[in-house]
Amino acid sequence: MSKYQITSVSPAATMNLGKKIGQLLKPGGVISLIGELGCGKTLITRGICGGLGVPARQVNSPTFQLVNEYRGRLTVFHIDLYRLSGIDDSIDIGITDYFSRAREGIMVIEWAEKIIDLLPPGLLKIEFDIISKQKRHIVLSSTSRRFAGLFKELRGK
Ligand SMILES: Nc1ncnc2c1ncn2[C@@H]1O[C@H](COP(=O)(O)OP(=O)(O)O)[C@@H](O)[C@H]1O
Ligand SMILES: [Mg+2]
Repeated sequence: MSKYQITSVSPAATMNLGKKIGQLLKPGGVISLIGELGCGKTLITRGICGGLGVPARQVNSPTFQLVNEYRGRLTVFHIDLYRLSGIDDSIDIGITDYFSRAREGIMVIEWAEKIIDLLPPGLLKIEFDIISKQKRHIVLSSTSRRFAGLFKELRGK
């Protein structure tokens, strides 16, 4: 299991972490974002997308449509499960189809803990804790070797 943790002291720092992640991603990754409302899930998604060459302004929580699709170096499927009650609802919106479609792209899921049993193994988990108004403790972890290079790069910087 790879793990990397950092304390972000500003929204810009969280965005930058996302950008680095986006630059290092390979096709077929699933990223689960876990943490309470306002911890920075959408913000880091904006950074990740930026690192993949998607204009940041395109990236917003998919409130009505539930899934946003962006085209960058890789296609990003941005899913926000905030309004869904759980697994049944998620299956109804076709989340499993996105798992297959995202094999060549990247899937970023806010509130991923709601569908823990549906998630593929070996994803990149990003957990946030709010420390104060500007500070977030962020922990990245994965059991997959797919992200080994990413962890190595993050540690090296
Ligand atoms: N270090 C930080 N990292 C991320 N967001 C921060 C940080 N400090 C303050 N914030 C603020 O917290 C909010 C995070 O919002 P957002 O990314 O939409 O959260 P979520 O999607 O998890 O509900 C933003 O208003 C942002 O400016
Ligand atoms: Mg959000």
